[in-house]
Amino acid sequence: MLGIEHPIVQGGMQWVARAELAAAVSNAGALGILTALTQPSPEHLRREIARMREMTDRPFGVNLTFLPTLKPVPYAEYRDAIIESGVKIVETAGNNPGEHMPALKAAGVRVIHKCTTPRHARKAQEIGVDIVSIDGYECAGHVGENDIPGLILIPATVAQVSIPVIASGGFGDARGLVAALALGAEGINMGTRFMCTRESPVHESIKQAITRSSETDTRLILRSLRNTSRVWANQLSAEVVALERAGAGIDRIGPLVVGAKGRGVYESGDVESGIWTVGMIQGLIDDIPACGDLVRRIMDQAHGLVSGRLAALL
Ligand SMILES: Cc1cc2nc3c(=O)[nH]c(=O)nc-3n(C[C@H](O)[C@H](O)[C@H](O)COP(=O)(O)O)c2cc1C
Repeated sequence: MLGIEHPIVQGGMQWVARAELAAAVSNAGALGILTALTQPSPEHLRREIARMREMTDRPFGVNLTFLPTLKPVPYAEYRDAIIESGVKIVETAGNNPGEHMPALKAAGVRVIHKCTTPRHARKAQEIGVDIVSIDGYECAGHVGENDIPGLILIPATVAQVSIPVIASGGFGDARGLVAALALGAEGINMGTRFMCTRESPVHESIKQAITRSSETDTRLILRSLRNTSRVWANQLSAEVVALERAGAGIDRIGPLVVGAKGRGVYESGDVESGIWTVGMIQGLIDDIPACGDLVRRIMDQAHGLVSGRLAALL
């Protein structure tokens, strides 16, 4: 359906999923996805898509994330930039993409909607989404409010929709891929694992921090605002949680979590200077491979697992 070689998708990542990373993923035979809102305007997105085309001739997508923001975002203009640039795969996330579906469908775009509950997956199917990507509690970023891990969430979702399901959250290696396929998904979506690759545009210190961190080194923030997000466990995220427990509102919390601060972390490599997004899978990540080597390793080891360890079951 997506024209890709391997059942692996690189999810949209604010400030991270730029052309360098997404093109490397697509060139590896998986699906690279640019993040629309990393570009300051729809015009910049058009240029980024053009840059992407210079780096790969393989299929790729663009992520459009609908989230509460302090400044209104011209979503329809970003969507039109995607369509007019001829992109045929869009990953939506955050809110229901309903109002954008007619335009996307009319342009022949395949829509992957990423959500965190089977109820939202059913809704996505109802409005004509082609593929649903289901993000479990393990995931980096917006985990939703139900805290259901992938082991339950993936088969629950597969049971409730007839469109293909991509498993997301906590995937980083062949074991995860094989498990996702066993749970009924058609493939996996990875964020954190791709953030920690050679082509990822984040500072080397961030990648090193991921390789050193364990699965316990993440923290959920913004639960009090029903906008729960999994981020790296630093002093600042601890402060945010403490403020939330003390009943602080968006006026006090907002300045600590603004996107620009997170962006600064990826550029400076100072892991304590802002809130930055990462998933529990960091506990299983201990290297910084090139995307091509990573995808090849996952596929090779998955074949090995199925034909070796799992074949023994028969
Ligand atoms: C640094 C970072 C930024 C992210 N930004 C976005 C985003 O803007 N939109 C979105 O839909 N998902 C975003 N995500 C979530 C990923 O697309 C993906 O769903 C998630 O990382 C999967 O969990 P994993 O990290 O365990 O693989 C982000 C993830 C990371 C690590």
